[in-house]
Order: sequence, then C-alpha cells, then structure tokens
Amino acid sequence: MSNFIDPAIIPKRKLATGEEIPCIGMGTFGSDRFTKEQVSSAVAGAILSGYRFFDCASIYCNEDLIGKVFAEAISRGLVKRDELFITSKVWNDMHGEGDVLLSLAKTLKDLQLDYIDAYFVHWPFRNYHAPKCDVNSRNPDSHPFSVEEFMSTWKQMERIHDIGLAHNICMSNMTIPKLEAVLPLCRIKPTLIEMELHPSFQQPELFDYCLKRDIQPIGFCPIGSPNRPDRDKTEDDIVDIQMPEVVEIAEAHNVHPAIICLKWAVQRGQIPIPFSVHEDKYQSNLKCTTEDPLSDLEMDRLAKADKNCRLIKGQVFLWKDANGWEDLWDLDGTITK
Ligand SMILES: NC(=O)c1ccc[n+]([C@@H]2O[C@H](COP(=O)([O-])OP(=O)(O)OC[C@H]3O[C@@H](n4cnc5c(N)ncnc54)[C@H](OP(=O)(O)O)[C@@H]3O)[C@@H](O)[C@H]2O)c1
Repeated sequence: MSNFIDPAIIPKRKLATGEEIPCIGMGTFGSDRFTKEQVSSAVAGAILSGYRFFDCASIYCNEDLIGKVFAEAISRGLVKRDELFITSKVWNDMHGEGDVLLSLAKTLKDLQLDYIDAYFVHWPFRNYHAPKCDVNSRNPDSHPFSVEEFMSTWKQMERIHDIGLAHNICMSNMTIPKLEAVLPLCRIKPTLIEMELHPSFQQPELFDYCLKRDIQPIGFCPIGSPNRPDRDKTEDDIVDIQMPEVVEIAEAHNVHPAIICLKWAVQRGQIPIPFSVHEDKYQSNLKCTTEDPLSDLEMDRLAKADKNCRLIKGQVFLWKDANGWEDLWDLDGTITK
C-alpha cells in the first residue's frame, strides 16, 4: 500500500512502566455524525496505514464492529496483538461495586481481546446522561465529585489490573484538586491521563502536574473538534483551525491547520488522538509526526496562543443545584461541593 507509514518510524513515548506507545493514536468517537460501520472501516484503513494506537470507549457504541476489525487484522497477519495499543473507558453508569469488571468484560468481548492495554475511568463522576440528550437536561441522581465514590471505582480498576485484564489503569477529565485528593490514596497510580488539549486550550498547569508525576497526558479533541455535536458548542468557543497563529504556520508549512495542531501536540509531549473517517486525513495525521517539525519559534508562538477555551464543558453531568459547567472543573483550586 503506497500510503503505509512504517510504525517503526513513528516516534514513541515511554510510560512509567517502561512500555513504549506511539506518539499519536486514532480517536473512535463518531459523534452524532458517523455510523459505527464508518468508524470501524476507518480503523481497518488506519491499521493498514500504520496506526497502532486506538482510543475506544464503551459509550461510543461501536466497540463490537471495531473488535471485528481487530480480530480480522490479527488473524490475517496484518498486525500482531502486542503491536497494538488499545484503550477503552468505563462509562459513568458502571462505577458501582462489581460494575467495572462487568463493563470491561463487555468491552473485551466486543473488542475480541483478552486484555486491554489501558482502561480509563472516562469521567470522575457517576453522573450520566442519556445518549444525545439535550445540553440542559439534568439527571436527578447527579451529584458533585466524591473522593469516596471515586476511590471505590479506582479500587475496582486496581483489581482488574491485578488480574491482568488491564495493563494500565488510567483517568480522564480530571483536575489538579481532584488528583491531589485521590493520588495519595491510589495503590496503583494512573500511567496515562486523558484531557482536552489543543492550541486554544493547553491546560499548562495540569499538563505539567502530570509530567512531574510521570503520568503521560493524552490529548483529546487535538484539532479543536470542529465537527463536535451542537450540544458541545457555545457562542464564545474558539475554532483552533482558524486561529491566526495556526493558520499562518500552516501556510508556511503548506499543510492544513489541523496538521499544525497535531505537530504542536506531539512536539509538546502529549499524545493526540485525532479522529477522522477520511483516509486522506487520517493518513496525513499519522505521517505529519515523521516529517517537517515545527521550529522552536513556531512552538513558542503556539504556546503563547493559549486562550483557555474549554470546548467539552460537560454540562450534561451537572447536578441539580450546580451553578454552571465551571463547577465540574474546580476553577478556584478546590473541589466543588
Ligand atoms: N476522554 C474523553 O472524555 C474524550 C472526549 C472527547 C473526545 N475523546 C477522544 O478524542 C478523539 C478526538 O476528538 P474529536 O473527534 O472530538 O476531535 P478532533 O480530533 O480534534 O477533531 C476531529 C475533526 O477534525 C477533522 N480532521 C481530522 N483530521 C483532519 C485533517 N488532517 N485535516 C482537516 N480536518 C481534519 C475531522 O473532520 P472530518 O470529520 O471532516 O474528517 C473531524 O471532524 C475522539 O474520537 C475520542 O476518541 C475523548
């Protein structure tokens, strides 16, 4: 295949365990726009193109078809299981006692795997919403973050690590105050934390906090998720691929602004997980990590372009008396009660 990028030349990141993983992965959240058939056939094409890291989740409702793709690629000898790094996430309605194992068992069955490389707590709350629900809907059972509840979920994560079903156990959508509260209580520390990261939302404090503790950040929405569902859009949101800094650097490199977002992400040190079902795009996303790096001046310019513009605000996880989405993110440095 002409557009095959040898996985051996894709830069790697070393986790705290010593394990190496590719510096870029592919997202699999089809949002409300793409069917699971489209997403899974993109995964098949991505394996052929040289991708080895795939970011899955039970709530994306496509693990069964993606699993068929993995099984076929492995049985046809296109890739070996241990060359793939596959992640998944437990959804908010499966944090109860015994539920984490059940959730992972379903994911492993769907993905046709006997272990997952990394399993994430998708959100640090039990609050959940019906798929595609309105942004203003509130589940009456929702409540603020609870250290006790989170730790009971994490203890289940530690057990699935103990029995070898998850090689890494990981967190997502955390804040520094929440990490300060739970990390000292973890018997097994997370090796990866997934967080929103793109040029207009760089989260420098959380990013540095993770690096200092040998936790590798994974950056979701690395291109600023230009086609995210309407429920995740607000008027003031910045469009990363239209930011002058990104556009001008893209012109200088003769690439799409999306590519600049990804080069910046990889060179900064997070692992971006861009999504596209379009072959030309997902191939160029992988290839850009192997050529034509950004200069120090360009990296510096992009660092200064941060606008602290969170896109995935999580409104649907709020509880009845919450003030607003900011309550999920502990902006004053303490856990919102
Ligand atoms: N942990 C969490 O809570 C969480 C939250 C959100 C997302 N995620 C993960 O992060 C992944 C990525 O996030 P995302 O899909 O929201 O955002 P994204 O990767 O920032 O943006 C995806 C969009 O960028 C466009 N795109 C991709 N490559 C491009 C290229 N080379 N040139 C031009 N446009 C390009 C695609 O357009 P086309 O569709 O037109 O190709 C696609 O709509 C998800 O799939 C999911 O796996 C995790």
